[in-house]
Parts: sequence; C-alpha cells; structure tokens
Amino acid sequence: MRFLVTAGPTREFADPVRFLSNPSTGKMGFAVARAAARAGHDAVLVAGPVSLPTPPGVERVDVVSACDMLEAVRSRLPECDALVMCAAVADWRPARRAASKLKKGGMDGTLALVRNPDVLKTLAADKGDRIFAGFAAETGDPGAEAMRKLREKNLDLIAANDVSAPGCGFASETNSVTVYTAFDAPVRIPLMRKSAVAARLVRMIGRIAAARSAPLVLASKSPRRAKILESLGVEFTAEPTGAPEISLPHDPAGTVRANAAAKMRACRAKHPGAAVLAADTIVWCGGTIYGKPRDAAGAAAFLGELSGRTHTVFTGVAYCGPDGAERVCTAESHVRFKKLSPRAIARYIAVANPLDRAGAYDIDEHGSMLVEGWTGEYENIMGLPVAPLRGFLCRPFPVRKSGERPER
Ligand code: PMT
Repeated sequence: MRFLVTAGPTREFADPVRFLSNPSTGKMGFAVARAAARAGHDAVLVAGPVSLPTPPGVERVDVVSACDMLEAVRSRLPECDALVMCAAVADWRPARRAASKLKKGGMDGTLALVRNPDVLKTLAADKGDRIFAGFAAETGDPGAEAMRKLREKNLDLIAANDVSAPGCGFASETNSVTVYTAFDAPVRIPLMRKSAVAARLVRMIGRIAAARSAPLVLASKSPRRAKILESLGVEFTAEPTGAPEISLPHDPAGTVRANAAAKMRACRAKHPGAAVLAADTIVWCGGTIYGKPRDAAGAAAFLGELSGRTHTVFTGVAYCGPDGAERVCTAESHVRFKKLSPRAIARYIAVANPLDRAGAYDIDEHGSMLVEGWTGEYENIMGLPVAPLRGFLCRPFPVRKSGERPER
C-alpha cells in the first residue's frame, strides 16, 4: 500500500518572528510513517516544523503552515491508498502576515485571526476508495468528539487521544488511543511506545484495505442474499456449498452459527486467499426449529403452526477474511403472523413464489399476506443481516432500524 502521513504542528506566522502553533513534536506521525515503511508499504511523510530525522525508507516533504500542508497533501493524494492525518494542524492563522517585524508599540494587544482550511474536510471530495484516518486530540474522554469528527470529516477511522492523560499525546514517547471506525466496535490501544501504537494502526489500516479489496465469495445459493449484497454495492461471486446442515434442538443460535461456519469453511477450502461470507437462517417458534418446507403441503403445515404466533428468525453469519481470520455471529428478529385461516394459507401458497412457499417469505411482497408486525433487522428476516457485514467487510453500510421497511 502507499501511505501518506502528516506529522507535527503547523506554524502560522503573524510576522517574520512571531507565530501561532502547538506543542506537537511529530513523534506520533513519524512513528506511523516509520511503521508503514517497516511493514513494506510506500510512505510519504508531510512534516510540519519538527526536529526529527527522516525514518529510513520514507520520503519527506517539509511544510510550515496549514495552507502549505493542505497543498502538499493535495498534490500527493492521487498516488496514495491511505491518508493518516496525525499532524496538529492549527485551526486559525493571523489575518495578516506582516512582511517585517511588527513593532511592539504598534500592537494594541489584539490579533485578528482567520480560519485555516481543514485538510481532511477539504480533500474529502477527492477521497475515492482511499482510507482516511485522523487523530483526535482531546482533553478528557475523547469518545463523543472523536465520533463527531469521524462523521464530519468522512473518515474511516479516528484514533482518539486523551492528551491530558499521563504518558499520552504531545511530546511523550508513549501514547494510548481508542480507535473508532464508522463500521466496527471501538478498539482500545493501551499505553505503549508510540512506535507500537503506530504499528497497530498501520496493521488496522492494512486489514481494512484488504477486507475491502479482496475478492468476495458468497457461499450461498439464495438469490435474496445475493440481492442484499448487490444493493450494498458489494462485488462478489456466489458459490453454494454442499456442506451438510445440523440442527441442535435446543440451541437455535448455535445451530445457525455452526451451519454458517461449516458453509464458510467448505467454501474457503476451495478459495484460499479469498474472503468468504456464508449464512444460515432458521425459524424458531415455541422451542421448535422449523426446517424449510419441501412442498405445498409442508408449507401449509408450517404456516398453520405459525399462524397467530410470534416466531424468531435466527441468522448465523460467518466470514473469513483474506488473512484467514474467522468471525461468526448471530442476528435475531421477531415476526408476528396474522391469524391465518386454511383458505388464507391456500391463497398465499397459490400466489407466492417458490422461495416464499419454502417459508423464506418476503415481508413486503406476498409475505405481507402473513405478517402482522416485526422487530429486528429487515435484512435478517430476508436471510442476511447487514449489521455484522459492516464489521466484516469494513464498510459503513446503512442498517435499517427495527420495523423500518426498505425503500422501493
Ligand atoms: O506530535 P506528537 O508530539 O507526537 O503528538 C501527537 C499528537 C498529540 C499531535 C497526535 O497524537 C494527535 O492527536 N494529532 C491530532 C491533533 C489534532 O489536530 O487533532 P484535532 O482533533 O484538532 O483534529 C482532528 C483531525 O483533523 C486530525 O486528524 C487533524 O490532523 C485534522 N485536521 C485538523 C485541523 C485542520 N485544519 N485540518 C485537519 O485536517
């Protein structure tokens, strides 16, 4: 990968001898550039005024002000895959920069300031498929501010720094950050040397890039699962597996997890190096796991059993990343069926498509003849919950809230 990293402070001059700045030494950003180069990536480092040697294998561009930094980053952005903004960019600069030293007698104790451009926000429009990572320097618990900056600056991840904590932030040899993303649970990196924090961040960014770019195989023959992935803009090939399914009578969640994992592993064995996604969905009602009805008579019996009752749809989702790391989870939704007369059931079976007849009803199509209400995630009822896919595929897919129907 090609990393573009910024480090250090910026200086915003009021005249040739006076400037506004902050205590950043560049240590954290230099450590990120060094870690990227050590991990075998290309690394370009845009550095504010600091007194640190250039890490081996890193190309360095020196800048002074926030405006310089914006231009340097803008010009190198096209050739990078990940931008890591570690620099403490000054938010304000003097409205005027005098060409010669201002005389004390001519100053009235006020300095007019103007806002500096925000580098990340300005370049958001040119982001494309690149990964944008920021740092958030806060005093106190940085979580809420970090999440706000993540959203406002359209970042993929942000390392939140409590710079008031001992051993953290400006000038220290160590740091501790919590990494927030738009798609997964936060990860805390405890206090350690900045070089170790940097290595962890570089690995995380590498994993995100790999998860997004690896060919994805969907180990399923379900057209509905394929449709859900397509609607998210995910590229994939579908390849059903013949993995045998098990049923653990008193453990619906365990059943779908085991089946999804077995399908995923069977498919991964055929596609080493690819990312593989598999799922298994069952209906659970009154302590019974309902298998898929085989024919119209089976469907009639199945619907008769569920009539007027609430059942739970369990989906197990299993994912194997391109690096071989496996993740398995379960999603659960609750669906209440109307009281269905034998005639209503027969009418439904006559008009529903074969998938619906197999019990995998589409709650918006013919399934609306059956469904009175539901809670949970819509796509789970359709066979592939989106919430876990965010973390697996490292993308901030929108997840519909409970009871929301898809737009048509
Ligand atoms: O250099 P050290 O002494 O090792 O100290 C490390 C550090 C404390 C500077 C570093 O760990 C850190 O927290 N850097 C971010 C500092 C900062 O400016 O945070 P912020 O919350 O104000 O900004 C959020 C993000 O927006 C940052 O990624 C920042 O680079 C970026 N930004 C900010 C202002 C601006 N005008 N343009 C930006 O792109």
